[in-house]
Amino acid sequence: MNSTNEGTNIGPYEERVKDFSWDAVSRELGHEDGAPLNIGWYCTDRICKQGLGGKTALIWESTQGEERKYTFDQMRLYSNAYAKLLQELGVKDGERVAIYLDRVPSLYFSLLGILKLGAIAVPMFSAFGEEALQVRLANCDAVACITSPRLARKLRKARPGLPALKRVIVVDVDDESKLKGDEMAYSVEDAPPVDDFPVFPATEETPSLLHYTSGTTGQPKGALHVHGSILSQYITTKWVMDLKPDDVYWCTADPGWVTGISYGVIGPWSLGATQLVLEVGFIPARWYSAIEKHRVSVWYSAPTAIRLLMREGEEIVKQYDLSSLRHLCSVGEPLNPEAVIWSEKVYGLPFHDTWWQTETGAIMITNYPGMEVRPGSMGKPFPGTAAAVLDDRFEPITEPNKPGKLALKPPWASMFREYWGNRTIYESKFKNGWYITGDRARIDEDGYYWFEGRDDDVINTGGHLVAPFEVESALLEHEAVAESAAIGTPDKVNMEVVKAYVALKSGFEPTKDLELSIMNFVRKRLSPLAMPQYIEFMDKLPKTRSGKIMRRVLRAMDRGEPIGDISTLEDE
Ligand code: WT7
Repeated sequence: MNSTNEGTNIGPYEERVKDFSWDAVSRELGHEDGAPLNIGWYCTDRICKQGLGGKTALIWESTQGEERKYTFDQMRLYSNAYAKLLQELGVKDGERVAIYLDRVPSLYFSLLGILKLGAIAVPMFSAFGEEALQVRLANCDAVACITSPRLARKLRKARPGLPALKRVIVVDVDDESKLKGDEMAYSVEDAPPVDDFPVFPATEETPSLLHYTSGTTGQPKGALHVHGSILSQYITTKWVMDLKPDDVYWCTADPGWVTGISYGVIGPWSLGATQLVLEVGFIPARWYSAIEKHRVSVWYSAPTAIRLLMREGEEIVKQYDLSSLRHLCSVGEPLNPEAVIWSEKVYGLPFHDTWWQTETGAIMITNYPGMEVRPGSMGKPFPGTAAAVLDDRFEPITEPNKPGKLALKPPWASMFREYWGNRTIYESKFKNGWYITGDRARIDEDGYYWFEGRDDDVINTGGHLVAPFEVESALLEHEAVAESAAIGTPDKVNMEVVKAYVALKSGFEPTKDLELSIMNFVRKRLSPLAMPQYIEFMDKLPKTRSGKIMRRVLRAMDRGEPIGDISTLEDE
């Protein structure tokens, strides 16, 4: 597995670490100090100005298999049109505009349009149910939402809790009579072209996106990002994904999550790369045939997907010509060594693990093209990034292989700047001059980082974080539930799935029907990801004296580990 840096964009890693500077990245992007820096403009207009307006930016395949292609110039015109539409509807810079769409072309056009207007885009995962949607859009007082006829139905249910939401724009409408109230149908491809939109003169610090993410306590928090993040996303895409002018790049993540934006929009398009988007979810035959048909060369996916492909086996791989593949990367959860070794065997290429978070906005620790992959390791910090493993006093551990808290030294271009409306929690993430990631890791003798686990209660299911509190709150709304707790229980494919512990109100019996009713209740309100796969009924849940549910005890019970005497546990 020893390879060479030759021909890679990054070249020799040690040299890049030594000579890294953000100024050099700015220069590469043609950005001068004090000049505007708008992600929407950089991903479309700038590429057109480089003479690449006619190059394919987006290859889109619908669920039914219809294929459409859009050039950078079309992306420029359609994003302008969305910016103008929102402006005419009275949306101002700094206001929050939600996108609640499946992976359809308008998702990408409207996202760039919102950024061009200087408004803050709030991507919502299309599998979210009414409650998940309402909690997030209410938190940020979204003033407008772009959605589809199918999803508008869920949005309608959330709307009574969203007084700030004044505009609902529905795209891909074939029957306007099905729209309700003030919902407005819009088709960007039929609207008059907007050749010249006065793009908002954002600076590096102008807010761009709010990505909701799950924490240990409370409801999901909106990690606020800025236009300057493009510097991180551009250079990491160039060096980690190793994109070249002729590549066809495919990121399987949904733009409802940060990966689908940082590496499914901003990074690749800031480099002028051609991207594939499949509307359809995970279907091995569709995935492989898309790689073959569109000659995908760089593929960014996730361990759960890779494990599912492993389960499908090698035979199906042989039915497709996957020879276009050149470089593979993965993110979201620990990439097990077996998955790396399997991909080497069947695709002839190892998956390169990348580590980062919603809060970091871009890849922070990774395995580089042309550098030895240590299967199971996350790799090394990105040039310009100072990472460390800290002890309980938040001091760096120098001894190799000793686990501690994974931390990063601020600032970096794509660092989140705030949890929307929650300064206290934001500040609590910084200690001793370090940003504390919430993960545990160790560093080996050669400087490779190894993931050890999370340092908090957040559940990671198939690379998606779920807040125990959000599940617990939804459970409590079920008529039969008196007390609830949610933990992650180990799962072969998804790493973890949600497991709920429930104490019932008097008059309710723990039956199979009730179990299913509770599961479905959470699935509809939150999402299939947040739905407990297992429910265990208890007479009462273990709590501290102050009434806080001890998830730690439940986790130990779940794993069959000793619990100890919980009656003597201190308040925590
Ligand atoms: C958490 C962040 C931005 C990436 C998509 C998820 C876990 C992420 C890895 C990895 C082990 C990983 C961590 C991290 N995670 N990548 N390569 N190896 N764990 O973003 O939803 O903010 O989740 O996902 O626990 O803190 P996110």
